[in-house]
Amino acid sequence: MKRVMITAALVAVAAWFVAPAVASASTHERLGNLDNGRNIFQNGKGDDVPACAGCHGVDGNGNDEIGSPRLAYQVDTYVLKQLTDFANGKRTDDTMYQMNDIAAALTPEERKDMATYVHSLKSPYLGSNLDQLRRDGAKIGDPAKGKMIVEYGAPDRDIPACKSCHGFHGRSAGRMYPAIGGQNYVYLRHELESLRNGWRGFKSTTLTKAQNSDKDDNERTNDYMGQMRYVAGKLTDEDIANVAAFLTLAKPTSPGNPRSPSHM
Ligand code: HEC
Ligand code: HEC
Repeated sequence: MKRVMITAALVAVAAWFVAPAVASASTHERLGNLDNGRNIFQNGKGDDVPACAGCHGVDGNGNDEIGSPRLAYQVDTYVLKQLTDFANGKRTDDTMYQMNDIAAALTPEERKDMATYVHSLKSPYLGSNLDQLRRDGAKIGDPAKGKMIVEYGAPDRDIPACKSCHGFHGRSAGRMYPAIGGQNYVYLRHELESLRNGWRGFKSTTLTKAQNSDKDDNERTNDYMGQMRYVAGKLTDEDIANVAAFLTLAKPTSPGNPRSPSHM
């Protein structure tokens, strides 16, 4: 009996390790209708949904000037979760203050269509123009230091490697983990700061969320079980600038590791 149980446990563990590899080798079934997603992305829908392209770019690359994220190639199940969270108010857009209304005006089917479309985009992988941002007065981190945290974490400070959940160079490692490599610098910093703010309310067992956090700060609290808030809660401002500088420049493929998020 005992042996049977151990064998079953081993099989379960093996399946867990194998699953992402299988998922990345084959293109899985589409969540929704690609053509309808393209239509809404480029043209909007009625009076309530403006064209996504207006803020996320025709190519889905996002825009540092307004802090919008790159959506092109992003993991479809992750995009669907975010649109659902925006629609239900679990996540708040505190940048342009429009994503909540936009997502709520889409039907659940249309959210799947949007996820399918942006995931399919193979726009050039640009990353932010850090020189331009620096000229505009933004504080830019050190990519070499950021790389250390992404690859190895900071064990002395109990910070896990980002790679362990987000994959090599942030290319994503599975259906719930977003690709963060090639994401825009301004957006990366903003999300990490918001998640860090969200951790303050989560970790405390004695204070209510409102008591524990400064209400003027943005908070993102929609990650499952606080997985990401836990990590962000340990990052300093400098760490955040450093990982964002590395990740925005990280390439989608490299010799010996051809996997890119578009294969997910
Ligand atoms: C008015 C500008 C604007 C429009 C129009 C817009 N977005 Fe956004 N979107 C943003 C901004 C800004 C953010 C970042 C929000 C934040 O900082 O939390 C965002 C975030 C998102 C995210 C979260 C991405 C992530 O990595 O977590 C998704 C998904 C998204 N938008 C999809 C869409 C879709 C689909 C449409 C069209 C139906 C759309 N957006 C239209 C500005 C816009
Ligand atoms: C234990 C797993 C885990 C680790 C380790 C981890 N993350 Fe995450 N991260 C997540 C999950 C899960 C999400 C998606 C949350 C959601 O569903 O809204 C996420 C989301 C994010 C986002 C928001 C992406 C977007 O498009 O909005 C950023 C940025 C991010 N992580 C950066 C990092 C960095 C930098 C590190 C390393 C310092 C890191 N993560 C380590 C699990 C992890």
